[in-house]
Amino acid sequence: MARKNIIIANWKMNPVSEKEAEKLFKEISKSVSGMKRTDVVVCAPYLYIEKLRKISKKIALGAQDAAWTDVGAFTGEVSPDMLAGIGAKYVILGHSERRVMGEDNALINKKVKAAIQAGLLPILCVGENERDEKHEYLNLVKAQIKECLEGISKNLISKVIVAYEPVWAISTTANRRDAVPADSLEMAIFVRKTLSDMVSSKIAKDVRILYGGSVNEKDAGDFLRSGGVEGLLVAGPAWMPRNLQRLSALRNMALERYS
Ligand code: PGA
Repeated sequence: MARKNIIIANWKMNPVSEKEAEKLFKEISKSVSGMKRTDVVVCAPYLYIEKLRKISKKIALGAQDAAWTDVGAFTGEVSPDMLAGIGAKYVILGHSERRVMGEDNALINKKVKAAIQAGLLPILCVGENERDEKHEYLNLVKAQIKECLEGISKNLISKVIVAYEPVWAISTTANRRDAVPADSLEMAIFVRKTLSDMVSSKIAKDVRILYGGSVNEKDAGDFLRSGGVEGLLVAGPAWMPRNLQRLSALRNMALERYS
């Protein structure tokens, strides 16, 4: 039987108040009720996670980043243990918007380890800024995977979810262009091959791979059907009605697929 799809909404730094966050979460919750064989996750700003967790058990909560260690004198940081303690189950790590703020693969590697240690499921974002004819982008993604997962034991690597997000396709990138399912399929195969060479073919199969980058209600189904992935990471902007439409479209598709 096919594994469950996983749809993750990245709210980024939105919405501006807890009241709005609750309202949106309730709407999403209604829109996905009855969705079959699909895990839905909302990665909300830290401040809202605990409150939202109490609203619906159908939707899992995640954070959009976490520190590389559990406790200490690190002004402004939030540790993965703290997040697990308030009910987060997932955490996005290595998002391109954090990489431009200076995060590198070595730091992300520490964060992945700390997240797993705290019992969170890391959603590791990888993806190139640009494609090139010589296919250097494949080497870049390979290095991201290898360096971000370095030193993590085989069994624990299977807990990591890899989200392929080509930066050139993300909705907030200037002069962005659309990725198509063939782009995601190529990368999903490449990521599995990289994991297979690094760890084992069994672990490479176990790791869930998602696609993210301007997914919309029209192409979401195509990415899930022919993009080689088992889920989507969507933002754009995840807190607006457009995203609810996307989730409803995905719901319909999931119902169609599994009924
Ligand atoms: P988008 O963003 O869906 O708006 O392209 C995806 C992301 O940044 O995670």
